[in-house]
Amino acid sequence: MKTETTIQGLSASLNPARAARKIIGFVPTMGNLHEGHLSLVREARKLCDVVVVSIFVNPIQFGPGEDFDNYPRTLEQDSHLLAEVGCDILFAPSVEQMYGNRPNLTSISVGEVSSGLCGAQRQGHFDGVAVVVTKLFNIVQPGFAFFGQKDYQQLMVIRQLVRDLNMPVEVIGVPISRAEDGLALSSRNGYLSDAERQTAPEIYGTLKTAEEHLHQGQALQDVLAQIRTSLTDAGFVVDYIEARNPKLQMVDRFDQDLVLFVAAKLGKTRLIDNLQVKYSA
Ligand code: PAF
Repeated sequence: MKTETTIQGLSASLNPARAARKIIGFVPTMGNLHEGHLSLVREARKLCDVVVVSIFVNPIQFGPGEDFDNYPRTLEQDSHLLAEVGCDILFAPSVEQMYGNRPNLTSISVGEVSSGLCGAQRQGHFDGVAVVVTKLFNIVQPGFAFFGQKDYQQLMVIRQLVRDLNMPVEVIGVPISRAEDGLALSSRNGYLSDAERQTAPEIYGTLKTAEEHLHQGQALQDVLAQIRTSLTDAGFVVDYIEARNPKLQMVDRFDQDLVLFVAAKLGKTRLIDNLQVKYSA
């Protein structure tokens, strides 16, 4: 596996593959890789000739008071994991390489899909994601790009961005990887104390119970209220609990496929998760 830290170096590494019309697969990450990221790389490995993974903790998608400074940076360990799983090129640029020392003048707002849910809680977050993903797509020029469904709203924002701006890349969403006890894998799980780590799988537990209750015919609003109560009783501070349809439109009853969304804090750690619930008449 090659590691490149400059845009020029990456282009030089990719040019032969481009000239040979090889299919380039791309997995953008912020590092501190876990099995969830590795499943994206494996998927890319299956579909593409050349696999590029980026590791870049993107300052412009963090709000004031968020965890940009403390975000875990574990490049050496990540690099070993990537080599094992068959990544061809690791792109790990500095902030300077990506943004120079100029202020970032161009902004991208993807519109409705980026409002509500995490977009309401984290002002400007998805604009920052849209800018960095656009830059990375232009730098790597992949045929396929892979994103986890844990960040479901992010995936929808990127799909919309790609459609609206006619970007020549196919976006692939990969199912959530979970620990054995159901906790969705996330780099932020590392912030949890032992006791919090024991409690954290309650999020998935309450989502699965909610799914059962919906299938038993309980009203959606009651089910959402039960999730809130269960999580609050377990010690979470809930940011939001919502049901949307798979396109992220609001719904007020269970008469179509739904996605249940949770964002909640446990101590200082903000966790998100979602569950797709199938409707059958
Ligand atoms: O999901 C992430 O890790 C980041 O938001 C992404 C897509 C790499 C952009 O910085």
